[in-house]
Amino acid sequence: MATIPIQRLPEHVGETVEVRGWLTGLRSSGKIAFLQLRDGSGFVQGVIARNDVGDEIFERARGLGQESSVVVRGEVREDARAPSGVELGLADVTLVAPGGDYPITPKEHGVDFLFENRHLFLRHRAPWAMLRIRDELERAVHDFFHARDFLRFDAPFFMPTAVEGTTNLFEIQLFDESSAYLSQSGQLYAEAGAMAFGKVYTFGPAFRAENSKTRRHLLEFWMIEPEVAYLEHEGNMQLQEDFVAYLVGRVLERRPRELEMLGRDPKLLEPTASGDFPRISYDEALERLAREGEELAWGEDFGAPHETILGGQFDRPVMVERWPTETKAFYMQPVDGDPSRVLCDDMIAPEGFGEIIGGSQRIHDLALLEERIAEHGLPASAFGWYLDLRRFGSVPHSGFGLGLERTVAWITGAKHLREVVPFPRMLTRMMP
Ligand code: 4AD
Ligand code: MG
Repeated sequence: MATIPIQRLPEHVGETVEVRGWLTGLRSSGKIAFLQLRDGSGFVQGVIARNDVGDEIFERARGLGQESSVVVRGEVREDARAPSGVELGLADVTLVAPGGDYPITPKEHGVDFLFENRHLFLRHRAPWAMLRIRDELERAVHDFFHARDFLRFDAPFFMPTAVEGTTNLFEIQLFDESSAYLSQSGQLYAEAGAMAFGKVYTFGPAFRAENSKTRRHLLEFWMIEPEVAYLEHEGNMQLQEDFVAYLVGRVLERRPRELEMLGRDPKLLEPTASGDFPRISYDEALERLAREGEELAWGEDFGAPHETILGGQFDRPVMVERWPTETKAFYMQPVDGDPSRVLCDDMIAPEGFGEIIGGSQRIHDLALLEERIAEHGLPASAFGWYLDLRRFGSVPHSGFGLGLERTVAWITGAKHLREVVPFPRMLTRMMP
């Protein structure tokens, strides 16, 4: 008899099949029992009747505890009321191993308890749906860039220098007492890749020692960083828009059931999938904030409340471009004729989910880049190789970084980034 994954059961209506999985819950009377089953690919209800299977099998089924691993056999029956569209009419149930004293019961548990038991909680519906959407997005990232002839390029994780400022660096002690840093971003290496391969993207972890407990920051997160030779600021923003519209469209198309399980209204995501994102300047953003009673001095960075206000003014992500030079990283290309501003943008998601992308055109002039490295107090010696990219056939180029967890949180409606990664790493959590 064929073993069928639960998500494929609707293709086998009328057949008798085997399912290998676990029991998530059970209700029974003396005559009939309802077994809630999962196998990793999905969830389905099994129904077993004493009259059909006899006392021995019925009592065995009825005695199973939560999270017992089981192999069941039964007929796939259409059931319009079931979320999966089918149920299993069970003929036999075999116990593989008992569920033991499984700690996560149907009663309400606190958030801390669920994260202490994250290794088990992953089996439950909300994290299951969330991580299936994360997986869909990861695949969509590769499909998007491969369709556009980008090369996937792996940047190192041990770094000799800072990329995104020195305040949130994790320092690593090396054997000879010298030190290295965990990568905050693969960008500088992606720039070398762009000069070698034209269009590249990295997809890897980034580490930031964020000494704060916000719902939008992790110590370890995943970032996608495309970098393109000969691409300038406007083209960079267009690439960001196409990318994010594609990602959202993919989830709407392929993971509607998971969105529904999470109670996420797809209507709120539909405008994003059609592109056409609003673009406003940093200066206009300041005016918009002032009108909402949030005065910021020119040159100040936005905090979470400012991003929430700006993001809330649109039904799809908004791109805030041309920031003050002093606010941003050392490598950004100045606006032509206005050295006080740089050719960059932040993409801010709607509904208070904050910044999902930071991107810019990079300085391609050697002398200017040397000046900026000195101004930022960065060690020139460590940037020799990076400056070589400007010494030998330098060209205008641009790129950006999309934070995967911020993007998953927005698309799924997760309140906190810890929910969208299997094992979150935060100031307050290293276990499990
Ligand atoms: O804006 P950031 O700092 O940009 C860079 O790192 C550039 N080097 C990217 C580039 O141009 N190649 O970070 C990019 C994105 C942010 O917009 C945010 O989505 C995410 O990374 N991010 C975080 N996500 C989770 N936890 C944190 N602590 C994050 N810090 C940044
Ligand atoms: Mg940023």
